[in-house]
Amino acid sequence: MIGIFDSGIGGLTVVKSIVEQLPGYDIIYFGDTARTPYGNKSPETVINYALENTDFLLSKGAKIIVMACNTASSVAMERMTGKYDIPIFEVITPAVELSIKTSDKLRIGIIGTRATVKSGIYEKKLKGVNPGARVYSVACPLFVPLVEEGWLKKPETRMIVKKYLHPLKVRQINTLILGCTHYPLLKNIIRHKIGKRVKIIDSSIAVAEKIKDFLTNYPEIDKKLGKNGKSEFFVSDVTEQFEKTARTVLGKNIFLEQTRI
Ligand code: DGL
Repeated sequence: MIGIFDSGIGGLTVVKSIVEQLPGYDIIYFGDTARTPYGNKSPETVINYALENTDFLLSKGAKIIVMACNTASSVAMERMTGKYDIPIFEVITPAVELSIKTSDKLRIGIIGTRATVKSGIYEKKLKGVNPGARVYSVACPLFVPLVEEGWLKKPETRMIVKKYLHPLKVRQINTLILGCTHYPLLKNIIRHKIGKRVKIIDSSIAVAEKIKDFLTNYPEIDKKLGKNGKSEFFVSDVTEQFEKTARTVLGKNIFLEQTRI
């Protein structure tokens, strides 16, 4: 099974991309809805959550882990790889590689949670691959609650998106990384506000492509993954709103099981 976790609903955008890239693979998802949002918490707290979420997914039979959360990816990767002897995927490196490959002018904007932006991980990785890249980051702490509330098309949401993207427009970025797995749900508004000429990099698509390549190159690990099209969804707090937004993301009803971590 492919184990995937996020603080809440955002990781479902990664589930969607994984199901598109790897149809039939068994997946197990954990959304930490009782402790969301992660983006305003300290690195140590988020690291502990990431370790606990991973222990839960492993206890359910996951053989590889996907941190479908930029906030966890930006602070927990080192501790995760130090602790677990299985393949662990984060969402930042694939988005960085894809933007360097496709951004011709290398004027790259990043939007993410406060914790992700504060970690500086995107700048570090982008400049590590190409020191000439110009990188501009903006924290957008209101986006996660708007998505969790299902406010995907409201005029207030459009206004807030416009306000957050303004400094990146002024910098004339030509590539924009959606550095939070919740943000693909606002992609249409973001595209409209940042302008059609800016290429949008969706980390959920980038990581799914990376996992597919990895499994092609490591057939011995691919063999360990069930392929019966099974999917299980766990959350630490079941709410009606989560069920509703999950339906919007995945385009179907899912059965949510509550678990205490
Ligand atoms: N979806 C998450 C991310 O990619 C985190 C949102 C949050 O809990 O703040 O950063």
